[in-house]
Amino acid sequence: MSKNILILPGDGIGPEIVEQAVKVLEAVRQKFSLDITTDRALVGGAAYDAEGDPLPESTLEKARQADAILFGSIGGPKWDAIERDKRPERGLLRLRSSLGLFANLRPAILFPQLADASSLKPEVVSGLDILIVRELTGGIYFGEPRGIREENGERVGFNTDVYAESEIRRIARVAFELAQVRGKRLCSIDKANVLEVTELWREIVTEMASDYPDVDVSHMYVDNAAMQLVRAPKQFDVMVTGNLFGDILSDEAAMLTGSIGMLPSASLDENRKGLYEPCHGSAPDIAGQDIANPLATIMSLAMLMRYSLNRVDVADAIELAVEKVLESGLRTADILTEGCEKVGTDAMGDAVVRMLS
Ligand code: IPM
Ligand code: MG
Repeated sequence: MSKNILILPGDGIGPEIVEQAVKVLEAVRQKFSLDITTDRALVGGAAYDAEGDPLPESTLEKARQADAILFGSIGGPKWDAIERDKRPERGLLRLRSSLGLFANLRPAILFPQLADASSLKPEVVSGLDILIVRELTGGIYFGEPRGIREENGERVGFNTDVYAESEIRRIARVAFELAQVRGKRLCSIDKANVLEVTELWREIVTEMASDYPDVDVSHMYVDNAAMQLVRAPKQFDVMVTGNLFGDILSDEAAMLTGSIGMLPSASLDENRKGLYEPCHGSAPDIAGQDIANPLATIMSLAMLMRYSLNRVDVADAIELAVEKVLESGLRTADILTEGCEKVGTDAMGDAVVRMLS
């Protein structure tokens, strides 16, 4: 049965990095005779400019129909001052929430070839393989009430951090199950010493642990986790946490791997339908200059093959091609180290395609 992939390039470097992943998609489609159709739509600032809405109804409808979505990045200074509900970020959040994409998988894996590009010593990061499981449709990102109001003659900003038991359970289940097929260690990150919402989080995860006797469960406060990630990151296997802590810790973990330009992600619903996007942002400062690293997006395509299309073989082939390119010494500027050859976005995409055939 033919599978449909919706491509949402977005803003900033989004279009140029997605273009590289599309080249790779084309290459694997031929190599593996995949029955795949693609469609495209606007999202983020590009959609706002064209239609006055960062997530037009037509884009959402296509997203609902698709088997999987490949997403670039959204946002930029151009749209920072517009009405809050129309900002590009809101489009992405609405897309995640409308599609029920509650499980965000962010693997931070260090390619041995990039050990020198990491800001940490090679021995601290070599062999690093962490999976951050971030809750993506709840918590303070979506909690009500929220806003900025006038109180006693000044403005007061407020948000609400809220998780229902069922929301904690379903994300914890995903994390436990992934831990079972990896290193069998799960660390749940919270701030249970201060925030009631995460006190409940810890209680539920503790309760569930007895259903997964093969998984070794631990708990850590988020401040300590942030510190441990740069002190001794290899102590972690799977980390599970809420929306905001996951946002922060995944950027930190990304940097351990040499560059945030290397970190892919999958955002899955209950049925493993998913949206796949690099963890990094739209980097407007380098957009259109052919210098952005497309590898996070290309590896997001690999995750798409693995999780939504059930093609582990194709996913493996893409990841191997990326590794071979790194082995051959090609680097985009963000991961460049001495003795390597600097290439642009487009050339990096071509190199991955070449290694595939
Ligand atoms: C991410 C991004 C988004 C988030 C922004 C662009 C809304 O930082 O995917 O990590 O905060 O979730
Ligand atoms: Mg982020």
